[in-house]
Amino acid sequence: MKNIIVTGGAGFIGSNFIHLLLSERRDVHIINIDLLTYAGNLENLADIEKDDRYTFIKGDICDKALISSVFERWDISAVINFAAESHVDRSIVSAEPFVRTNVCGTQNLLDCAKAAWQRNGGFTDGVRFLQVSTDEVYGALGKTGYFTETTPISPNSPYSASKAAADLLVTAYNHTYGMPTLITRCSNNYGPYQFPEKLIPLMINNCMNDRPLPVYGDGMQVRDWLHVEDHCRAILTVLEKGKVGEVYNVGGNNERANIEIVKMIIAATGKDESLITHVKDRLGHDRRYAIDSTKIQTQLGWKPQIDFESGMKSTIQWYLDNTAWIESVTSGDYMKYYERMYGGN
Ligand code: NAD
Ligand code: TYD
Repeated sequence: MKNIIVTGGAGFIGSNFIHLLLSERRDVHIINIDLLTYAGNLENLADIEKDDRYTFIKGDICDKALISSVFERWDISAVINFAAESHVDRSIVSAEPFVRTNVCGTQNLLDCAKAAWQRNGGFTDGVRFLQVSTDEVYGALGKTGYFTETTPISPNSPYSASKAAADLLVTAYNHTYGMPTLITRCSNNYGPYQFPEKLIPLMINNCMNDRPLPVYGDGMQVRDWLHVEDHCRAILTVLEKGKVGEVYNVGGNNERANIEIVKMIIAATGKDESLITHVKDRLGHDRRYAIDSTKIQTQLGWKPQIDFESGMKSTIQWYLDNTAWIESVTSGDYMKYYERMYGGN
């Protein structure tokens, strides 16, 4: 049995990854460490919580005593670090929690993993540490070009700056101590269990409630969209086949302007385009992201399996079918956040 630490497993991508790993691999025991912030929700994992290959620990990746105790209790063969503050708009309001979790939390995990890895005999049978990063560390593109793994890091938002700092720490632990680390940098994900502060679930939720659809600026900013299951399969591929010390870009080859996405959701939910409201642009808004994922495709054999049209169709249907989930995650402080962000819109 391989003991695998998944941090942030109660969030959007982490919970999808846990579902994938339990269904695709028999010989794993997952230890999910999650602080259950506003973005973490155990309902995402309700169907597997009694699986004897799954253990949940409520805790902070910054907590050295807790993380060390997990490494002492189990012989860990991999750490996959999803835990993060993940929303750009929140990082613009306050960068502090982003630096704390994304930078200091990653450093603490690296230190605890290093201690365990050194106890286990260094190079021969190491703890593999996979950092789940983002294409946003590369900054923004103009109308042409793609991010490759050698594109210089040039983050623009406090969120992407904190993720870039974490990546540099991960790389430094590989370079300095020879620790077996891996980094994936993925484009924008969509799919079930995404918190409705992000573009796609926010627009679906607002359509379902006949609320205005707040499009930042002209809505012509471009993102490359990938279904979360394809991202999770890429992470598993890199974990099992990736070359230690390397970075792998993951993308869907599927660039869309935000306004196009919003119109697609309006059409699929049978609403009217009069719901579109252009609001003040995000500060420092990155204009375009686009990923070149040739490396993971040619070297590790991964490729996206879900085309955007059918992925969006099933995603929109999932939100329509899971209104209880939406109500539960948007109860708490969500409406306060919404009011602060969008005012009367
Ligand atoms: P999310 O916000 O949905 O989930 C984050 C999870 O981390 C939550 O369950 C939260 O409770 C937990 N968490 C936060 N602080 C913690 C702490 N200090 N200790 C333990 N747990 C903590 O995020 P997501 O969209 O699932 O993203 C997961 C990872 O993937 C992040 O590292 C993000 O940067 C990266 N990523 C996301 C996207 C995307 O489109 N969503 C794209 C590329 C990369
Ligand atoms: P988001 O889902 O926050 O992801 P990211 O900023 O990490 O790419 O936003 C995706 C795009 O949608 C981004 O260009 C900002 C835009 N956007 C809006 O126009 N309106 C909104 O209400 C939100 C949340 C995002």
